[in-house]
Order: sequence, then C-alpha cells, then structure tokens
Amino acid sequence: MGKYRGGSTTVLKPKTTQQVSQIMKWCNEKRIGVVPQGGNTGLVGGSVPIRDEVIVSLSNLNSVRSFDPISGILVADAGCILQSLTDYIAPHNHIMPIDLGAKGSCQIGGNVATNAGGLRLLRYGSLHGTVLGLEVVLPDGTVLDQLTTLRKDNTGYDLKQLFIGAEGTLGVITGVSILTPPAPQASNNVILALPSFDNVLPLYKIVKRQLSEILSAFEFIDRTSYDLAVKHGQGRALSEDEVAGAECFVLVETSGGKREHDEEKLNNLLESLLEVDTPLINTGVLSQSPAQFSSLWALREGVTEAVSKEGKPYKYDISVPLSSFKTVVDATREHLRSKGLLGDGAVKHVLGYGHVGDGNLHLNIVADSYTPEIQTALEPFIFEIVASYRGSISAEHGIGAMKTHALHYSKSDVSIALMKKIKMLFDPHNIMNPGKVLE
Ligand code: MLT
Ligand code: ZN
Repeated sequence: MGKYRGGSTTVLKPKTTQQVSQIMKWCNEKRIGVVPQGGNTGLVGGSVPIRDEVIVSLSNLNSVRSFDPISGILVADAGCILQSLTDYIAPHNHIMPIDLGAKGSCQIGGNVATNAGGLRLLRYGSLHGTVLGLEVVLPDGTVLDQLTTLRKDNTGYDLKQLFIGAEGTLGVITGVSILTPPAPQASNNVILALPSFDNVLPLYKIVKRQLSEILSAFEFIDRTSYDLAVKHGQGRALSEDEVAGAECFVLVETSGGKREHDEEKLNNLLESLLEVDTPLINTGVLSQSPAQFSSLWALREGVTEAVSKEGKPYKYDISVPLSSFKTVVDATREHLRSKGLLGDGAVKHVLGYGHVGDGNLHLNIVADSYTPEIQTALEPFIFEIVASYRGSISAEHGIGAMKTHALHYSKSDVSIALMKKIKMLFDPHNIMNPGKVLE
C-alpha cells in the first residue's frame, strides 16, 4: 500500500537456520532491532521496519525438507513461497490447507507468523490447527526445535501456538511442519448475483444445507468491489444481463470426490434457488472450464489489487456478526458523507468484501491520498462499532504497526498485560520486530 517506510540500511539473507541464530545472537548482544521479513505482502505494516532495524529476509531459506505422501505432512523452510509448495505437493495429490490472493509471493513462514486466514479457512480451519510443528530462532539465538510431524502430542504447553500470529515479535520462524489435505478430485465454482445483501444469510443457510460436505468457500463481494475488480482487469466480467440489478455477489466453491456428483448437487442448488416465487438470487454463473474457474476466482481474489490501483486504501479487516456486514459498510459510508469526505470529498469508495463463511468482513475505504482528516473520521469510529458487537479489529491480517493503538478494542487489559509478560520473557531487550503488535 506504500503506507509504511522504514529507515533500514541493512538486509540480511541467511541461508540456514544456524545463520539466523548467529544473526539473532549478535543483534541481541548489540541491542539491534530485527524485522523478520517473508514475502512482504502483509497489509498492516508488520514486515516493514519502523526505524533502522536490520531486516532478516527469509527468502533464501527456501527448501522443502520432507513430504510424506501417506500422512500428507510437509516440512518446509520458512522462506518457501506458498505457490511453490502447492506445486511441490500437487503431483502427490495434496493441496496446501491455506490459499490466498498473495500466494505467488507470500511465504509459508510469513503465513504462519501472521496466522493468515485466506480462502480455504472455511474448509480446512486455521493454521492453529494445521501447523503441527515449528522451528523458531529465539531473540538470543537459541534454536527452539519443535518441528514435530506428530498429529497428536499432548505433552504440556503447546509452545508453537505462541508463534502462530505473533507477527515475528517473539522469534524468527525458520521451519514449518504442516498437515496438507488430499487434493479434491473435482472443484467447481459459481458466482451468484444477489438483488440485496439481505439475501446473503438465507442463501448461506441453503447453500450449506444443500452442498454440505463439498462446500469449500463462500465468499462475498459487494457491487463496488465487483465494479472495481472489473475496472482494473481482475477476472472476466459477467455480462450486462448477469449483473443487472445486483447489489452484491457471492462466490461459492465446491471441492469433492466425484465430478458428476458435485455438478449434480450444484445444478440442483441453482435450480432450487431460481425456481421459486421470490428467488434469493438474480442469476448464477457456473464455471464451465478450468480457465473460467480461475477467472471467477480472480474477480474475488483481485479485489485487493484493484483497490490499490484505484487509490490509497484504508483497510479494516474485522470480525462482526454476519448479519451486520452491510450495516457496518453503510454506517461508515454515511459517516464519511456526514463529514463531507465522500461525494465530492477525498474519499472515492467505501466497499465491503470478504469471507462470509468465517464472519470476516474486509471494509475498505479508497481515497485519493492518505490524510489526517480521513484517518480521524475512520478511527475510532470503526473500532467502536466493532467493539459494540464484541467483534475483532483484526480477523486475519494481524496487528502489525497499523493497529497497535487499537488492540484494546478487542483484547482486555488482563489479556494485554499477559501478552506483554510473554513478550518480556522471550524478548527482554525488545529487539524482535519492535513496535509491532504491542505498543
Ligand atoms: C482478501 O481476502 O482478499 C485479503 O484478506 C486481502 C484484503 O483484505 O484486501
Ligand atoms: Zn481476506
């Protein structure tokens, strides 16, 4: 987003865990701040230095250590790019349990450090469940080897969980052991155009019931998100007829064991949705080829890129009750209008998209430039709405440098105090990704 810029002079690119350990030991002794950096695709400034920290890029630590095609357990260096891991295990008919738009450049270590959610969470759950083990270099250079490949290990505190989502504030993840699911035999997707957001939840209920075990994604984009994706060349636009009167769109993906069975289920779903007096959807476009499958996904996955091409995005990644998604987007839009910032003002669009199945809304405000007026209008306004629902101010992007001041909207004082104690225990000299997560 070009929002953060540090003043680092040095990037180190270790090739081994041992080298990471030597770097950390040195930096700890000299009290030099360190920013671990993966693919640098995060959205909250977590991998960007604040001052003159040394950047430790994991990109040269990029080998697969082992893959067991029977258990599906993959052990890989932290710097392996997500897509390259997907390609590595594809011949064994396995897939990564995590998928996101940034797959071509994000790294598995960064995914784990930020507890990235993404597009498959609905089906395969979060990294807190699929990561089996980690190798982590602690701030003093100690290598914590918990790179187990065991499915079950009930021997006391599960330390690896602390590093999942710590955003590099407790140590540098150098290796990851992760459970990969078998590749589905068939994948289909369909994009549904809806006349009103009010139909999304009744639709979700029906889709879950009818598709049951083959449902693998239920993603939502509002009309503004769709229009921006199309404007900036993400995916193939639907026809005028297909989008006429659509207030929003839902992308449904199925992943199952038998193509004919899955197609029959999807077709039955579409029929039952359309052949009623008051249909919940205007139309449904079913992908007919692998190319169309990718192009429908690109409409959803490409929103992030489209938003960045359109202007300067303010990004809010929140968990709120599904029923309030539209209320939150509309309230933000009206609030900005009342402040004179929307319409002829500096804000161009307010849009909502995200992972309905996970209760995760991406609320984006696109402006001509980042200004203090817009910032003040948005915060704490949005955080207060989130807190009123007991929601999360960061559902999947993390806290990074962007949201440290807002942590208290989602975490109690007791929780924050404990987090600070844990940070002190691991990193008493505060050299690990300083200024991130905790103020
Ligand atoms: C997404 O779901 O597309 C990502 O989390 C990125 C974003 O919020 O833009
Ligand atoms: Zn997302």
